[in-house]
Amino acid sequence: MHIPVLLTEVITSFEGLNNGVFVDATLGMGGHSREILEKIPNSSVIGIDLDSDAVLLAQQNLSSFGNRVNITQGNYVDMVQIVRNFNNCDVDGILLDLGLSSMQIDDTQRGFSFRFDSDLDMRFDKTKGMSASEVLNSFDESELADIFYKYGEERQSRIIAKSIVDSRPIKTTFDLTKIISNSKRQSKSKINPSTKVFQALRIYVNQELRNVEKGLEEALKLLKFGGNLSVISYHSLEDRIVKNFFKKNSLNCVCPVSVIECQCQHSALIKIINKKVIKPNEQEIASNPRSRSAKLRIVQRISLNVSM
Ligand SMILES: C[S@@+](CC[C@H](N)C(=O)[O-])C[C@H]1O[C@@H](n2cnc3c(N)ncnc32)[C@H](O)[C@@H]1O
Repeated sequence: MHIPVLLTEVITSFEGLNNGVFVDATLGMGGHSREILEKIPNSSVIGIDLDSDAVLLAQQNLSSFGNRVNITQGNYVDMVQIVRNFNNCDVDGILLDLGLSSMQIDDTQRGFSFRFDSDLDMRFDKTKGMSASEVLNSFDESELADIFYKYGEERQSRIIAKSIVDSRPIKTTFDLTKIISNSKRQSKSKINPSTKVFQALRIYVNQELRNVEKGLEEALKLLKFGGNLSVISYHSLEDRIVKNFFKKNSLNCVCPVSVIECQCQHSALIKIINKKVIKPNEQEIASNPRSRSAKLRIVQRISLNVSM
């Protein structure tokens, strides 16, 4: 079961957008969409998810809302085209609840978690791209080390990559966890020694950071004047992209500091609604520990000019 994170705060971010069209760009099991449909009068939702299992579940979970919901399997980087296919107008609110759902982490067959022994797949869309085991078995040592360092901030990336190359073929999650435990130096850290490598592989396999960058741009293209974009991220690599993107697009000038007179002709597209990032309170963390790293950032479209 997936418990939607920062649910009240997300709904508050869309307050006043009655009769609005919303895009839930990371639909999952539809937890946030359900709340939008229940709490925002006459709202409708276009739901997108890369994962066909999530799409099926969300269709079941939201079936009682009839034609107020349209769901499609797809990548949110294509949200402009997806939304145009459903309705040809701009949207009032967009939610990006990044990363993966509890349903995916707890699935014993998909390889997202080091708690279960399974094939190392890790793709949100099981029909596209390379699986995690294909990456581990075909990339060279330095490429693997770079992935672990860049996307997992794993300091022992080189020694782990060497052990992986020496132990090929790697088929299952437990093959990988054994290699990591045997190759890493002992540490006092409380986190599981495999955490960072698993995160890195998942991010790489699904091109998550590139998708966040592109998805944010697409979202701004769709958003109506006065519409809101709310983004929940779960680790610093994602949050940094969201923060910098919002900052850049909320400025009227993005010239380097050395330039005295503005030459960029950039104008602010959005206003940052919450100067301080919103985090789950202690009560939410206690009832849903997976929410602990969540950070919500909200912006409002303040310009009609689409200059990206
Ligand atoms: C944190 S979950 C969303 C949970 C959802 N808000 C709920 O309450 O049930 C993130 C979802 O985003 C999906 N996802 C990840 N990257 C995606 C992408 N590029 N395009 C579409 N969906 C994506 C994942 O498959 C996952 O189901």
